[in-house]
Parts: sequence; structure tokens; C-alpha cells
Amino acid sequence: MKKNKKILVTAALPYANGPIHLGHLAGAYLPADIYVRYQRARNRDIIFICGSDEHGVPITIAAERQNVTPQAIVDKYYQIHKDSFEKFGIQFDNYSRTSLKIHHKMSQDIFLKLHGKGYLSEKTTTQFYCEHCDRFLADRYVEGICPFCNHEGARGDQCESCGRSIDQIELIEPHCVTCGNKPVIRETSHWFLNLKHYQHQIRDYLDKQNHWKENVKNFCYGWLNTGLEDRAVTRDLKWGVPVPLPGYEDKVLYVWFDAPIGYISSTIEWSQKIGQPEKWKDYWLDKETRLIHFIGKDNIVFHAIIWPLILMGHGDYVLPSDIPANEFLNLEGNKLSTSKNYAVWLDEYLAKFPPDPLRYCIAVNAPETKDSDFSWKDFQTRNNSELADILGNFVNRTLTFVNKNFDSKIPEAGELDALDQKMLTRIRKTPNRVGNFLENFEVRKALTNLMDLARFANKYFNDQTPWSTIRENPEKCKTTLNICCRVCKSLAILMQPFLPFSAEKLWSILNQEGVVSDCQWDDAAEADFPPGFTINSTAILFEKIEDDQIQPEIDKLKNIIAKRSTEDQPEVSKNNLISYDEFSKVQLRVARVLEAERVEKADKLLKLKIELGDETRQIVAGIAPYYQPSELVGKLIVVVANLEPAKIRGIESNGMLLAASLDDRSRLALVTVDSDITTGAKIK
Ligand code: 2FM
Ligand code: ZN
Repeated sequence: MKKNKKILVTAALPYANGPIHLGHLAGAYLPADIYVRYQRARNRDIIFICGSDEHGVPITIAAERQNVTPQAIVDKYYQIHKDSFEKFGIQFDNYSRTSLKIHHKMSQDIFLKLHGKGYLSEKTTTQFYCEHCDRFLADRYVEGICPFCNHEGARGDQCESCGRSIDQIELIEPHCVTCGNKPVIRETSHWFLNLKHYQHQIRDYLDKQNHWKENVKNFCYGWLNTGLEDRAVTRDLKWGVPVPLPGYEDKVLYVWFDAPIGYISSTIEWSQKIGQPEKWKDYWLDKETRLIHFIGKDNIVFHAIIWPLILMGHGDYVLPSDIPANEFLNLEGNKLSTSKNYAVWLDEYLAKFPPDPLRYCIAVNAPETKDSDFSWKDFQTRNNSELADILGNFVNRTLTFVNKNFDSKIPEAGELDALDQKMLTRIRKTPNRVGNFLENFEVRKALTNLMDLARFANKYFNDQTPWSTIRENPEKCKTTLNICCRVCKSLAILMQPFLPFSAEKLWSILNQEGVVSDCQWDDAAEADFPPGFTINSTAILFEKIEDDQIQPEIDKLKNIIAKRSTEDQPEVSKNNLISYDEFSKVQLRVARVLEAERVEKADKLLKLKIELGDETRQIVAGIAPYYQPSELVGKLIVVVANLEPAKIRGIESNGMLLAASLDDRSRLALVTVDSDITTGAKIK
């Protein structure tokens, strides 16, 4: 990276309709904060921008259910988010909100600019309208029976049971979620972003992003390769940014159109707050700025495809230069679920534990290249055996030794032996090692290198046996302790991005001026002290976490899972046993996948051509979120061969493949056969 470029870091604006959980922290906020803290220590021109995403249907539905205004909901969560981020040490330069006037104006200006430049087109579509509530039923305002799996309570945009996305007018027995009445179909006009027309422009842009993470690029090409469809960027709703065009008085911009614009309006608010109202332009209008969006993987398409096109269409602003999206963090082996309360909520966590152990545990398990898992046991072990026993122990044994044996004065070093030299070399090299990984968004490796410094230092302390040399060779003992104190100072500087609270504590034990977060990264390479420097009394950096502190947390999650499975699983009992005759009506057969492709406008569906004995058939399956088409070709799968043909999204499906899936659809695995058997073979 060129060292003098400005860096504008954003973290996804969280919806202001529920508290922040671990998944949010692991996906975006913690890696972003670590990166920014590091770059600040490198003295780079960097700002860190975020805020609440205060529009969208879940907010208005929550408001109606609680009989309060949407504003009241977002006011509440804006404050909760802001406070918990602060307590967790996420240091934004600005935390804004999309309900502010400056944001509405900015969003409308950008919309009009795109409209004027031909990036939008108006189309008439059909949508449900509730005559009782006198409004169109956008997205989740309508529910009914899923046309694919017959699940009752499927939403207007998606069925939670089978995971398929739904065009609302395909719902069986639709009803308005507010009043329960059956809606009618009416025509309505909306503005669409012309993604189809501009997909080559998007591909050209993506082709230049060779430095992006593999998972992010693959995801984007997956979308591009199936062909982009135009996306409606207006909605028939009252809560949101009003569409600034005549005839659209009752409509607002789609939440995903205005949300990323929040990055710009939050930067404007920041400039105003610091008394330099034009300063935001230094970042957004300079095409050399490194614009880095930290997000979770569920936000990739919006940030890497739709948002860049909005920015290209507008023309004045810099495009994203990196999108280091993380995969998902699971919890005790299961997918996090807000609606089922299966999560660790940040505000609840902070009421019971300090922030740094969680920062550490998430960073060490960061889902950088694949999904990872958080468990309370692992959290306890990481805290007790790594933070306390390695990092904390080294600092504590060193500083206690100096407090006790040298009257808190750091002794001076004398002649250096080979081990001393090695330790000093390690101190000199670690800042760049850790830094290089952070430049590359590799938080896990960066943290491992930091901990390795503490491990190495513990070994050095053991090998130099200062408890003996204090009597046998006091000069050697002084040298050892001088070097160990330098390690402590170096650790404080390097810990700061990851463990900011403990780093500050160590900084003040070391009697250093100011705060460690104002310190330069390179100072960690020497980390020396003036002769005769006095430190303060030491204190424990990391308290051990006991079993009885985490057991209630484990039990709480176990209870949620247990409750969920008794609700969802029909009991296997005598009442629902079937006879062999009944079973034999279902013809299960082996088939080979010959071709697989995505289905346009249905991001969950794949269309497969399969070989079933002498026959070739087409089936449609909701497995696109779990498999790339290419990995299916050649696989031997199991299908129900005598299922009535059905039309799914207008495409004929002649059979059904078998797959195992978790109730919340977080995992799905195809049923395959384990040796090459002729297709058409019966399964009995
Ligand atoms: O997924 C979410 O929580 C969205 N509110 C993220 C928005 S990111 C950006 F575009 F503002
Ligand atoms: Zn209604």
C-alpha cells in the first residue's frame, strides 16, 4: 500500500431494531476496529465511519407490533448500539444515523443524479394491496403458505422453512400481517437500478480487484455469471427516505439503496462536528482514497455489486478499494439466530464480563476464510490459558520481580549473551510481522504473532533463571529484567489494537505518559526506558474466568436448542409409524447430475439435469446457497422418482432430490451414494 493515501474505513451500518450480537462483531466491527487502531498507530490519515441503519420493513413492523413509532424504535437501538460499541472499545470517528436530514438529502441527491444519468428505469409491477389497511404490502407485510413447501407463515420475500425466495404474489392464501385480511393484486410503479444493462461495467470493475479476498470475489462472480437483474430501488412504504419525484409521494427509497449512502452522510456529519464542513470531500472526492468496507458475508452483493454501480453512476465519488467480508461465526456449533434469541448479545455480555477476553476470542477465531465457531468453553480456555497464563503471566512475573527486587526501578542492561540478543531481535521484528498481517486483514495470524512474542518471552525468562542469577550473577539478572521490561512495553503497544483496555492498563503500570493508543507502532521495536525509570505497582491484567461464570451461559443456549427441537421435530412414536407398504410407495432412486445452473431471479434455486437410468430429467432444488453448480456435476444423488411434476418459478421439476438440513436451514448436505452404482438403481 502507498503509505500516504487516505484511508476511509466503514463498518456495516447495523439495523436499529435489535441489539448487537457476536456475529455482527466477528463479521465487521471487531476486524474493522483492529485494522483502524493499527493504522492510527502507524500515523496514517484514516477515519472510521459507521452509524445506525434506521429504515426498512422490520423496523416498521416492530413499531406497529409494539404500538410505538418507528422513530421510537430506532432512537432506542441507536443509543444501545452506540453505548455498547463504546464499551467494547470500537472507536468510530463518527456514529451517525440514517434518519438524519443530511442523510435524506444526500440519498435523494444521489437518486436524482442516477435518475438524470439514465441509471434508473421506471417499471410497473403487480403487488399485493390491503384494502383494509389502505396500502401496498411491501416485502414482509404479507404472509401466506409457501408455494414450494406448504409451510404456513411464509413471508412475502422468503420462506423461512424451506429457505426459498418467493415472489409475494405466488403465496397461497396470502394475508396482510397487520390486519389479517386477504389482499388484492394491484399495479404499482417503481424505479429500478439498471443492473442488467451495466453488468459489464461491474465486471470490469471486479476484474481489477485482484487483491480482494477469494471468497468475496467468487461470490461476486457467482452473481455475475448467472446474469444480473434490475433491482427495484423504491418501495410502497411511508418510513424511509421519500422518493424525490412527482407521483411518488407515497413511496420511499429501498433501504438498501439509502443505507450505504449512510457512509457518505456520516462522513459529512463528522466533518461538521469537527468544524471543517468540507473535510469529507478530502476522502470521498479523492479517487486515490482507499475506501474499505468491513461487512459480513450476507452483505457482499450490496457492497460489491449494487453500491459500486450506484457510485459509478453518480461519478464523483471514490469506489470501494477493498471489501474484506468475513464468513459467519456460529455459536456452540449452531447458527446464530436473532429471532430465536440464539445469540450472545453484546450488552448482556458486557454486563457480566470485561471486553478484552471477548475481543481476543473473536479475533483468534475470526471467520476470515470459512465459518468458525464461538463456544463458552473455548472462551474460558482462551482467557485462562492464553491471556492469563501466557500474556498476563509474563507481564506479571516481570513487573512483580522489578517491584520486589529493584524497588520498582527498571535495572540497566549490561553485557548481552546470545539469548538476550535473540530476545531483542524478536522485539525488533514483531511489529512489522504483526503489522504486515494486519495490512492484509489477517487478524488471526497477526494475533498469533503477538502471542508468540509473549510465549517467546516466557521461555526467555525461564531460560535466564533470574530468581537464581539475582544472587549468583546480579548483572546478568539486571540485563534479563531490563529486556523483559522492554518486552512488556512492546507488548502494550502491539496489544493495543486487539486488547485496548488491557493495553492501557499495562501502559499505566509501566508509568508511561498519555495513552498507548496515541503511541507509534514502530516504538514497539525498541521499547526502551530511560536509565533509572520507575514503574508503578503491578496489577493483574486478565482475571481467570471460573466454571460457574460460564455455565449459566452454556445452559441458556442449550435450553434454547432443546426447546427448538421439541417444537420442530415430530416425535417418533407409535402414532406416526408407517407400514412397509406405505414406505414402498416412495420410489427412491440413484441419479447422476449431468448439468447444474442457477435460476434467474431465484437466488436459492438450482436447475439440474439428471440421468436416471435411461431417462434424462430436469429437477429444480433450493440448494443454491449451499452448492456451486459446478461442484454438483457428476455427483450421484438420491431422488424421489415418482413425485408428481411441479412448476417452481415457472420451471418444471420432475422429481425431488434428498438432502439433510438443519431446521433453521443453516446447513444442508446432499444425500449421495458411496460407490459408483448404475443410475436408476432403487433404494430400498
Ligand atoms: O445487514 C445489516 O445489518 C444492514 N443494516 C447493513 C447495512 S450496511 C450499509 F450498507 F449501510
Ligand atoms: Zn391489512
